[in-house]
Amino acid sequence: ERSSNVQTRPPVVTIMGHVDHGKTSLLDKIRETKVATGEAGGITQHIGAYHVKTARGVITFLDTPGHAAFSAMRSRGAQATDIVVLVVAADDGMMPQTEEAIDHARAAGTPLIVAINKMDKPSADPDRVLNELTAKEVVSEEWGGDTPMARISAKTGDGIDELLELISLQAELMELEAPLDGPAQGVVIESRLEKGRGPVVSVLVKKGTLKQGDLVLAGEHYGKVRAMTDEHGQRIQSAGPSIPVEILGLPETPAAGSEFLVLTDEKKAREVADFRTNRERERQLERQNAMRLESMFDQMEQGNVSYLNIVLKTDVRGSLEALLSALNELSTDEVKVRVISSGVGPISESDVTLAESSEAVLLGFNVRADATARRKSDTANMDIRYYSVIYGLIDDVKAAMSGMLA
Ligand code: GTP
Ligand code: MG
Ligand code: NA
Repeated sequence: ERSSNVQTRPPVVTIMGHVDHGKTSLLDKIRETKVATGEAGGITQHIGAYHVKTARGVITFLDTPGHAAFSAMRSRGAQATDIVVLVVAADDGMMPQTEEAIDHARAAGTPLIVAINKMDKPSADPDRVLNELTAKEVVSEEWGGDTPMARISAKTGDGIDELLELISLQAELMELEAPLDGPAQGVVIESRLEKGRGPVVSVLVKKGTLKQGDLVLAGEHYGKVRAMTDEHGQRIQSAGPSIPVEILGLPETPAAGSEFLVLTDEKKAREVADFRTNRERERQLERQNAMRLESMFDQMEQGNVSYLNIVLKTDVRGSLEALLSALNELSTDEVKVRVISSGVGPISESDVTLAESSEAVLLGFNVRADATARRKSDTANMDIRYYSVIYGLIDDVKAAMSGMLA
C-alpha cells in the first residue's frame, strides 16, 4: 500500500506590500537576521525563501520586492503561496503596490492577513489604514469583516507573536496537506548562475520528497540533483512539502515560476525537455521576426525613428524578467528600445561581440564581465555599464534615449 502518506504540511506565506513598508525587516525580525541592511539601494530585488520554526510549528516565508518593476515576481509569489501577509506601513497607508498586492492575492484566491507595521512611529495612524483597506473591501475582523489584522513593529518586535499566531490559526483552518513520500513536485522560485557552482535553482517542494540524486525536469531543462542546500547554505539530503531548497545539477537556469517534477525515466525527461526547448526557440524566432517587421514598418511610416539596442545580462531569472518588462515600456514613437540579447550569468566574450556588431549598449545587472570579455571590450573600446539597483539601470537607459533625440 502506497496511498496513505498524506500529512499536514507547513503553510507557505508570501509577504507582500508597497516598497519600504517593512517586509524584509519583518522577516529579519522573525528570523533574527539582517538581510534588509545588506540590500543594494535598500530594496529587495528577488524572491527570498525561508522557513522558520515557531512555537506552533514550521512556517515557510517568501519575501517579495515592493518596487513597482517587480509585478511579475509578486504575481508568482501570490500563486506559489497559501497565505499572503500584506504589510502596510502605518505612517504611509495604502499605496499603489499595496493595492496591487491585494489584487494579486484576489486573483490567486489566496487569503490575506494584514500586518500594520511601523506602529512604533509617532506618526503611525492605524485607523487611517483600516479605513483605506475597507474602501478596497479588505475589512478587519475587529470592524466586522473577515480579514485578520495585527498591529506590529518590525523594529521593536511588538505584535509579531500575535501575527505568527494569526498565521498558524489561518493555516489550521485551511487543513493544508500533501503527500510526504513519492517523487517530488513543486515550483522554481528563482534561479541564478554561480561561478564554480553552475546553475543554482531555488525551488519550493509542494508534494513528495526531493532527494539528492533525483532526476529533476524544470521548464526546458533536466538533470540529476548533485547537491541540495537549505537557505543558510547547509547541505541537506532531502526536502519535503513546503520546504524551500537550492539545488545544483541542472545544466541551465529554468525560468522563475516554472514547475518542476522528479522523473525516473531519463528518456522521457529528455523528450519533454527537447520538446519545450524547440517550442521556446520557435517563440524566440517569432519574436525576432515581429521585431524586424516592426522596425521595417516604423522606418517606412516615419523615417525618423531611432533604435537603442541593448545587450543585457543579469544575476537571476526574476530580475531579468523584471528588467525586460520595464525596458519594454520605455519605447516611444521616436526612440525604440530593442533588447537584442539577454540572459543570466556573467558578461561573456560573445555578448561583447554581439553588442559590437549590433551597436548595442552592454548592460550588466548584479553581474560582471569575465576576463576574456573585459579584454575584448577594452580592445574594441566598448563601454560596459554595471548596475545593482533596477531604477539606476532604467534611469540610464532613459537618459540614453533622450540623448538620441538631442
Ligand atoms: P522593499 O523590499 O524594497 O519593497 O522594502 P521592504 O518592504 O522590504 O522594507 P524594508 O524592510 O527594506 O524597510 C524599509 C525601511 O523601513 C528601512 O529603513 C527599515 O529600517 C524601516 N522599517 C521597517 N520596519 C519598521 C518599523 O516597524 N519601524 C520603523 N520605525 N522603521 C521600520
Ligand atoms: Mg524588502
Ligand atoms: Na526596502
